[in-house]
Amino acid sequence: MTAQDIPALAQLMAETPLWQRYGVTKTSARQRFQEGLAAGATILVAQVGNEQAGFLWYATRGAFLRSGYVVLLGVGAAWRGMGVGRALMAQGEAAMFQEVDAVFLLVSHFNQAAQAFYRRLGYRQVGRLPGYVLPDVDELIFFKKRPVPGQG
Ligand SMILES: CC(C)(COP(=O)(O)OP(=O)(O)OC[C@H]1O[C@@H](n2cnc3c(N)ncnc32)[C@H](O)[C@@H]1OP(=O)(O)O)[C@@H](O)C(=O)NCCC(=O)NCCS
Repeated sequence: MTAQDIPALAQLMAETPLWQRYGVTKTSARQRFQEGLAAGATILVAQVGNEQAGFLWYATRGAFLRSGYVVLLGVGAAWRGMGVGRALMAQGEAAMFQEVDAVFLLVSHFNQAAQAFYRRLGYRQVGRLPGYVLPDVDELIFFKKRPVPGQG
């Protein structure tokens, strides 16, 4: 991600009902991306033609100072179901699994589409954080170990 990607990706976040529920606006998303870039965050952007179709923000030692953590993943509504999310995760995991042997992420209890997506990619639920971010939403802890070569 570069600064030029921020407006389109802030728009993507602001248009996504999931993040609307968490109070994200175009302004707050823009600020979060700007602060992330300034702090050296790793944010991949999926580009389709000239458009920003999605993004993956990850931190290689973002979980327990030991494991990978998926901070945010989003694909624009127009590009969902076409493999963009899988491609972003494949690239992020390839980088993280070179250094760490597990990746964690949080997914809202009501976000069944994302839960199905992550399960398809080999993640499984290992815990639940009641009301961690929003008082009426549980965050499910999903986790994946580095695949053993030859075993998928
Ligand atoms: C979740 C999200 C990132 C998935 O990205 P995507 O580009 O639509 O997913 P892909 O097309 O790469 O799908 C990859 C696999 O997951 C499966 N999958 C994706 N969405 C699914 C759904 N809603 N239900 C069941 N399976 C699903 C696909 O069938 C596909 O399997 P295959 O490759 O074996 O055919 C995207 O829907 C999104 O941005 N949602 C809104 C924001 C969000 O929920 N982010 C995650 C927050 S934790």
